Amino acid sequence: MEITNVSEYEAIAKQKLPKMVFDYYASGAEDQWTLAENRNAFSRILFRPRILIDVSKIDMTTTVLGFKISMPIMIAPTAMQKMAHPEGEYATARAASAAGTIMTLSSWATSSVEEVASTGPGIRFFQLYVYKDRHVVAQLVRRAERAGFKAIALTVDTPRLGRREADIKNRFTLPPYLTLKNFEGLDLGKMDKSNDSGLASYVAGQIDRSLSWKDVKWLQTITKLPILVKGVLTAEDARLAVQAGAAGIIVSNHGARQLDYVPATILALEEVVKAAQGRVPVFLDGGVRRGTDVFKALALGASGVFFGRPVLYSLAAEGEVGVRKVLQMLREEFELTMALSGCRSLNEITRNHVVTDWDLPHPRPLPRL
Ligand code: FNR
Repeated sequence: MEITNVSEYEAIAKQKLPKMVFDYYASGAEDQWTLAENRNAFSRILFRPRILIDVSKIDMTTTVLGFKISMPIMIAPTAMQKMAHPEGEYATARAASAAGTIMTLSSWATSSVEEVASTGPGIRFFQLYVYKDRHVVAQLVRRAERAGFKAIALTVDTPRLGRREADIKNRFTLPPYLTLKNFEGLDLGKMDKSNDSGLASYVAGQIDRSLSWKDVKWLQTITKLPILVKGVLTAEDARLAVQAGAAGIIVSNHGARQLDYVPATILALEEVVKAAQGRVPVFLDGGVRRGTDVFKALALGASGVFFGRPVLYSLAAEGEVGVRKVLQMLREEFELTMALSGCRSLNEITRNHVVTDWDLPHPRPLPRL
């Protein structure tokens, strides 16, 4: 069957992957309310397209932290991609480079920063989890820098792992033939099997729960790389991130895997954008599956978006070819959305191109029968 949109890869991945792996990729936290809401909220934002504008040429290029990319659609960090496909992060890195966009490599990748760099040129960011042992962190950041990574995406929503019940039931753990490659030499590359989610136990043992704003400053003393704070959902924290020297903010709820009943990221975006006051770029991830989603995020002030699960599902289905197709489908859908909305370049996408629930002064009265 021909694949015609990004979401279709999920069913294929479900068929192909062991249940433990698929559930780990797909799950959200607890009731998974936010998981559904990340998608549903996009459907409550509608377009106000403009017509009779010459859209024979569409320019989707943009710059992120000074790096020119072909479209405002980038790859979010997702852990352990070799569980999806033997080429794992290598395939993702090659597909991102071919598409002219940015890949973010997870700290918990099954390929190291050096291995991913060896796949060839490409603009890449490194996602950082802060371990209790700060020597481990400093060493890893230095390795990422040396391997040519261009920014650090500091994940700030994970002092503890969210409660993902499928992982608890499945006793999720990294398969024994794989390693968290960035930590291989440090005796932190394996995950023990436990009576719980193996990842939750790993996080409880290794990740620094005391992480705070002063550590964002500390990070700036050990690296010159720009820091994106990943996991901001409120205006208050957006202001603190700017004060702490962040180069950018990623509005994210970790793909609904951490605190359940936080709002969909697309609903939290505008508040963060307003608080950032244009001092740093604001990005979004969570539930982006369509070109229309990308457009809506940009209309509400995002400088670009990232997506996670479709990479894993397309990797499982078709390896690098799958990830390339996902990037291509999102590109084509986004271009079409721009054309049908009358926007020729990203700076022509405005707040007036969308209408949201909260733009309406009152709920619409019900029609009288
Ligand atoms: C993630 N995410 C994530 N984030 C992070 O900072 N470090 C990580 O290692 C991971 N790992 C990870 C694994 C899996 C299986 C998923 C689904 C997600 C979160 C990720 O970066 C991003 O915020 C979400 O995936 C975005 O939501 P969508 O696009 O998956 O809906």
